[in-house]
Amino acid sequence: MITVTEVDQNQMKRIAGEKAVEEFVKDGMTVGLGTGSTAYYVILKVAELVKKGYNLKCVATSVASEKLALENGITIVDLNDVDHVDVTIDGADEVDPKMNLIKGLGGALLREKIVAAASVEEIIVVDESKLVEKIGTRCSLPVEVLPFGHVRTAFGLSRQGCEPVLRMKDGKPYVTDGGNFIYDCRFPEGIDYISFKESALDVIPGVVECGLFINMVRAVVIAHKDGTVEIRE
Ligand code: A5P
Repeated sequence: MITVTEVDQNQMKRIAGEKAVEEFVKDGMTVGLGTGSTAYYVILKVAELVKKGYNLKCVATSVASEKLALENGITIVDLNDVDHVDVTIDGADEVDPKMNLIKGLGGALLREKIVAAASVEEIIVVDESKLVEKIGTRCSLPVEVLPFGHVRTAFGLSRQGCEPVLRMKDGKPYVTDGGNFIYDCRFPEGIDYISFKESALDVIPGVVECGLFINMVRAVVIAHKDGTVEIRE
């Protein structure tokens, strides 16, 4: 009898994060460092490569990731000071079969999207719990908005068929690295991004960015409960 040992979610995150670095990071690259509990393992693995002598420049997608990277001896550069980012490795909250995503439960969606857009390759690292058939069915869509007039902005969001809920922390609105608020927008039927227009959100005055990542991903590294890892391209 073969016994399959299940690994816990944290181990899955580590397996996915480390595998992505092994596969996609090469000496001399400029690397985008994602944000979140899976990207944490990416950053530690990149730090190992730096200790081995790899010459890597890194761009961080959040203040927290920058701090973790610096503490571990990684050189951080400003996105404005590089032509492009060779590869970014980041987490996600939902991944559909076409590798489209929802990101932003960790609050870093704006910088994550700017860095993804500047990257030749965006690689996503997840455990299998993030896989969905249709995005928006497992979690709400985070939308970053300016604090000024945010209640009006939320009204505009609700007219797109969702229920926006202001994200709170310690009894106050959660504030992003960019000084903005986040509305978590629940779409009761999920998001059909073929008919749903991301641009319909973007044109609402006060909306800064949303956590939909459509056609931005080169590969997804997925860790499974049985300890195996799959690379979907
Ligand atoms: C940060 O804003 C998010 O986009 C994260 O990448 C996402 O929430 C995944 O985080 P975990 O790896 O912690 O689940």
